Amino acid sequence: MRIGVVGHGGRVSSVINHTMRPLDPALRVVAMVDPDEAGARARLPEQDREGVVFYPTLDEMVGKAKLDALVIGTRCDLHTPYAIEAAKYDLPLFLEKPVANSLEQATALEAAFEGSRCPVVVSFPLRVSPLCTFTRARIAAGAIGRPEHILGVNYVTYGVTYFECFYRNFAVTQGLFLQKATHDLDYMSYLLDAPIVRVAAMGLYGRVFGGDRPAGLTCVQCDRARTCPESPGYRHAHQNGYWEDGDHLCPFGEDIGTPETGMNEDASSALLQFANGAQGVYTQVFFARRDAAQRGATITGYDGTLSFDWYRNTARYVRHHQPFTDDTTAGEGMGHFGGDHVLAQNFLGLIRGEETTSITPIEAGIQSAYTCLAAKASAEQGCFMDVRQVGATPV
Ligand SMILES: NC(=O)c1ccc[n+]([C@@H]2O[C@H](COP(=O)([O-])OP(=O)(O)OC[C@H]3O[C@@H](n4cnc5c(N)ncnc54)[C@H](O)[C@@H]3O)[C@@H](O)[C@H]2O)c1
Repeated sequence: MRIGVVGHGGRVSSVINHTMRPLDPALRVVAMVDPDEAGARARLPEQDREGVVFYPTLDEMVGKAKLDALVIGTRCDLHTPYAIEAAKYDLPLFLEKPVANSLEQATALEAAFEGSRCPVVVSFPLRVSPLCTFTRARIAAGAIGRPEHILGVNYVTYGVTYFECFYRNFAVTQGLFLQKATHDLDYMSYLLDAPIVRVAAMGLYGRVFGGDRPAGLTCVQCDRARTCPESPGYRHAHQNGYWEDGDHLCPFGEDIGTPETGMNEDASSALLQFANGAQGVYTQVFFARRDAAQRGATITGYDGTLSFDWYRNTARYVRHHQPFTDDTTAGEGMGHFGGDHVLAQNFLGLIRGEETTSITPIEAGIQSAYTCLAAKASAEQGCFMDVRQVGATPV
């Protein structure tokens, strides 16, 4: 199984090495497009490191490397241009999210995939994680009656990463609806089996992260490192819930941007209206730590309430009109709560020809991007926004 990778960075090297390879030891990364040849090569296991061939372009790689599949794992702003090129080939494609970071990119991507035979697995592990599909099946079986409301919460404990590593570059990420909520709004739509058609959103900007510390400052050079809760020493000594404790850029730096120039939000929320009439709320908070960790959803119909939390690995089913409540505990220890394994199996199945359908198709990625772009625009403009629907408008 010969794989070509565009952008072999931290995320996709981890998915390939720790999730795909154990599922199919025949997998070989034989070709790459990545300007950081040394870094990309170093992230390969020994058996592929010597043999991998680097190409200057995707076109040349596909023309020469006799590939069975493609993986695109560059940073956010390059997903669309590479995916548009990949749409021309029939090779199964594993594509990192967000699939687009602007309306121009998203519409161009939709146009490129109209009529394309390239099967895409978008890297949305949450929708396919066992807790989410378990809950979706209960909804479909009528456990709560017609789902009327959904609450999605996202209190990840590593939110500072969006201010101290490359995600802080607003030009690349375009904010944390596109970067983070793209997962959550996708799985919320999947649970309710309906797209989001209207949003009203708000963001909290520059109240926690960002600030006036000098551009480019890292902890090693900083006179406040001894007392700063984000310094490696403090994190290590106080175990304050974030595992990255090496030297890093200051999350209070002026180079993060300002609300006026554009910056990632400390927290953001959206009111959601779904095409089937259900409504919802979504909130993401990026400065929560330790036991404040929480990520999951609560879905309510007249007959009951279903909820789950990936951090606690539990699901709950409350019957509203009978005196019974079920608590379910899920297994632990897999990437993205088991979702990465499901994505990888689907992708490998498509390559081997054993499966014909992607469980996270390109339309899901583009629809989520449209939803996040509407939320971003709503937060910027302070009004409700209709969400563009895939296929609804000629592109
Ligand atoms: N699906 C998920 O749950 C999930 C989790 C983490 C990250 N991500 C996404 O994965 C993406 C990559 O994140 P990362 O942490 O791996 O970043 P990274 O910086 O480690 O990897 C990016 C790679 O792209 C390469 N690259 C840069 N310019 C390129 C170009 N012009 N052509 C080809 N390659 C180029 C870099 O050299 C690097 O190897 C981001 O968009 C991020 O949002 C997704």
